[in-house]
Amino acid sequence: MERFLVEGGRRLSGRVRVRGAKNSALKLMAASLLAQGEHRIGDVPNIADITTMRAVLERLGCTVESRADGEHIGVPAEPGLEAPYELVRQMRASIVVLGPLLARRGRARVAMPGGCNIGSRKIDLHLKGLERMGATIGFDHGYLDATGSLRGTDIALDWPSHGATENLMMAATLAKGATTIENAARDPEIVDLAEYLTKMGAKISGAGTQTIVIDGVDGLHAASHDTVPDRLEAGTYLIAAATAGGDVLIERARADHLDIVLSKLADAGAEVDETLDGIRLKMSERPKPVDFVTLPYPGFPTDLQPQMMVLCALASGTSIATENVFENRFMFVDELVRMGADIRTEGHHAVIRGVHELQAAPVRAPDIRAGAALVIAALAAQGTTEVTGLANIDRGYEALEDGLGALGAQIVREAAAPARAS
Ligand code: EPZ
Repeated sequence: MERFLVEGGRRLSGRVRVRGAKNSALKLMAASLLAQGEHRIGDVPNIADITTMRAVLERLGCTVESRADGEHIGVPAEPGLEAPYELVRQMRASIVVLGPLLARRGRARVAMPGGCNIGSRKIDLHLKGLERMGATIGFDHGYLDATGSLRGTDIALDWPSHGATENLMMAATLAKGATTIENAARDPEIVDLAEYLTKMGAKISGAGTQTIVIDGVDGLHAASHDTVPDRLEAGTYLIAAATAGGDVLIERARADHLDIVLSKLADAGAEVDETLDGIRLKMSERPKPVDFVTLPYPGFPTDLQPQMMVLCALASGTSIATENVFENRFMFVDELVRMGADIRTEGHHAVIRGVHELQAAPVRAPDIRAGAALVIAALAAQGTTEVTGLANIDRGYEALEDGLGALGAQIVREAAAPARAS
């Protein structure tokens, strides 16, 4: 079993460059299906989910070549219609090929994505929106089978779903007439996708606000775009430094994408400065307790909740964390408690009583962000911590050990121990 061995008790210092956002790059790659031709998408992180999305595009008849300046995607006149289960199972975000394929071909078959550790991950808002645009969506042996020529309409999302906003925005670019998405997600990755679609010739206004208007056009053309920096990778490094202590510069981190996170880190006692290069954070004392509530952007990001819980676990007092986005995102707390944290969860709330130190203990990453959080806990723990479940971490971070290593962390990735001769 591959594992990290993390040496605890070291303060962090140095600088690290943030890569392009996983939660944008995946959708940018899916959006390329909307236009025949040679697309280039730059600053795509080299992570497992991107590998899966490359495979999905190739299965749909595209060519995908990774070069120094990004992913070069050749989209054919008629992409295929089916995203198979064995790929969708690996990466549920594959569901975002549904909108582009339906818009481009009038037909799409996409395997139903599974849930995951943090929640059921429903897609009803995606499907209801597409049906309002005129799609007929059937279920056939675990596959969504969608057909129909799309027309513009008004859609109000019950919840500002990140993925539903993206799927519907992409579908609407080629629909007949105008589509309005009310209660749209406002994340920076939505703005990034709208910028790429606009370069492809789409007519979109309001991306980044709760109302997005898309005027359908007859056709789009290939384009070139660089992925927005990953605010979640940046936030992970910042919280790591606030937890372990130190003085770090996170290059290309966009403070305007992390307002509430930076405000909470300052409340915890960190000195946070926006510089021309990115964000600098200094932390010289034990964190102060901080209450935080996860909400859709621009609220505190659910994808930094596990990391922030670790900071609070070592604070000089009691913090209350509230998780409003996913129904099961406190799963990793049990692992943290095994390292000596004093946390009680009650439904959507967690009461975190700060302790003076955490102890190294073998822990396992249950999902991407909880995995990063456990590595952060290991950085602050006494002793050397073994972290397994690296496949989950590698889905969302390109060599997390190198990123944190650049800041002075001592993390060794050990290959799976050879199976003992039986
Ligand atoms: C995206 O997931 C991200 N993933 C998630 O990051 C992130 O946590 C999430 O947005 C929220 O910001 C990618 O972009 C690949 P949602 P997504 O649709 O689009 C409910 C990570 O670690 N919902 O905003 O699936 C849903 O059940 C991952 O990088 C419906 O009820 O998120 C959930 O409770 C984890 N019906 C809530 O909305 C729907 O049709 C948020 O889901 C869709 C969603």
